[in-house]
Amino acid sequence: MKKLVFMFVVATFLLSMSTNFAVAGDKSNQKLTKEQIAKLRDVFDNYGCSGCHMYMHRDSTSGPAVAVIAAMAKAKPKSWVISWIMDPKKHYNEPDVKALIHQYVQYMPNNGVTKKDAEKLYEYLMAVADGLVKK
Ligand code: HEC
Repeated sequence: MKKLVFMFVVATFLLSMSTNFAVAGDKSNQKLTKEQIAKLRDVFDNYGCSGCHMYMHRDSTSGPAVAVIAAMAKAKPKSWVISWIMDPKKHYNEPDVKALIHQYVQYMPNNGVTKKDAEKLYEYLMAVADGLVKK
């Protein structure tokens, strides 16, 4: 009997834990599944974006960290970010971009991104900015 009561307590505890998780998940405006995020991340990696934009909040000499560009992208209109991703050269003369180029002593190159993939990369950066990407 004691064993049964113990099992009941454990079960209730586990159940309350899992509902807590569900509630926390609901709060974080989670629109994308893990699989969708992994697919978007593949696009980011396949274009070599992560070669210059590193994870783990680390800047490198090649470019600002992923979290940094995600925050910058979120602060700008979507159309600007899409245009930047597809053809950064168009924007080299804008004052804030000039400051970045000066800081990193590097121009972000044209990576030959298609419109469709630029949309995906934008979506990925928003997921990073919203804290949905763990690493
Ligand atoms: C060769 C290195 C390099 C590669 C590859 C690269 N970037 Fe960049 N990126 C930079 C640098 C450096 C900057 C800072 C601006 C500058 O100096 O041109 C930057 C800036 C950015 C910004 C911020 C723009 C702003 O001013 O708000 C975004 C967004 C971005 N990159 C996205 C991407 C994406 C998406 C890819 C892959 C398609 C990519 N980058 C590939 C080097 C790179």
